[in-house]
Amino acid sequence: MTNTIQVSNLEQGYGRTVVLKDINLTVTSGEILALIGPSGAGKTTLVSTIMGMLRPMRGQVAVLNTPMPNRPLLAKIGFMAQTDALYSSLTAQENLLFFGAMQGISRKKLREQIPHAAGIVNLVSDLTKQVSDYSGGMKRRLSLAIALVSDPEILILDEPTVGIDPELRQQIWHELHQLAAAGRTILLTTHVMEDAEEADEVMMIRNGEAIAQGTPAELIANYGVSSVEEVFLKAGRQQDATTHND
Ligand SMILES: Nc1ncnc2c1ncn2[C@@H]1O[C@H](COP(=O)(O)OP(=O)(O)OP(=O)(O)O)[C@@H](O)[C@H]1O
Ligand SMILES: [Mg+2]
Repeated sequence: MTNTIQVSNLEQGYGRTVVLKDINLTVTSGEILALIGPSGAGKTTLVSTIMGMLRPMRGQVAVLNTPMPNRPLLAKIGFMAQTDALYSSLTAQENLLFFGAMQGISRKKLREQIPHAAGIVNLVSDLTKQVSDYSGGMKRRLSLAIALVSDPEILILDEPTVGIDPELRQQIWHELHQLAAAGRTILLTTHVMEDAEEADEVMMIRNGEAIAQGTPAELIANYGVSSVEEVFLKAGRQQDATTHND
């Protein structure tokens, strides 16, 4: 197993505002890690730092043992941003071709990969539709298909299950588990506790701090509760109690 993503003693923020404090995490190949936390906790900030879109204020971020930011490495990462970045005047198929080419994938391989990636998110019959005619959920699904289309070694997905119905969510999780079993590394963020329960590792971020980290089963056992949701609530109360005592 290789440590595909390694974050050490990361402090991150914007200007003088500190958003993340002392974050440490490792994702190995074949592993799915879910970052969970309330809105504004710092999940997207962490993801953007791992992608190299933000330079760490303090600490290190390495992907495949290479410090980030590192542009060439981005070809190995399938990224889904929280905000869809799609060309609305193009069709879904054209978007997939464009972003696939940006990832350095040959047209021949793309012709094989596009139906596969679109199939995972149930968009095969809508590929020739212009993206401006897509619903919000369809745009999320297209963004996920774009992240998957290059069959990348690493997937970094910021809120991939927003706007996705339960049946499709299961289908997507099935695919993510298969990709992990084939040795891919997956890091995703979510608000949904069911997603956290599907992951191999969970990291809970609240107020910029990692308040709990481990496998879902470990967390449930350590906190003496019966669900990941209760772990999150309990860890949150503990954080509040510590903060008030400071
Ligand atoms: N570009 C920016 N400039 C200044 N502050 C920012 C910027 N982006 C995010 N922040 C602040 O950083 C904090 C963390 O934001 P972030 O987007 O990382 O949260 P999040 O956990 O992804 O939230 P959500 O679940 O709503 O997506 C918030 O207080 C936010 O206001
Ligand atoms: Mg976010």
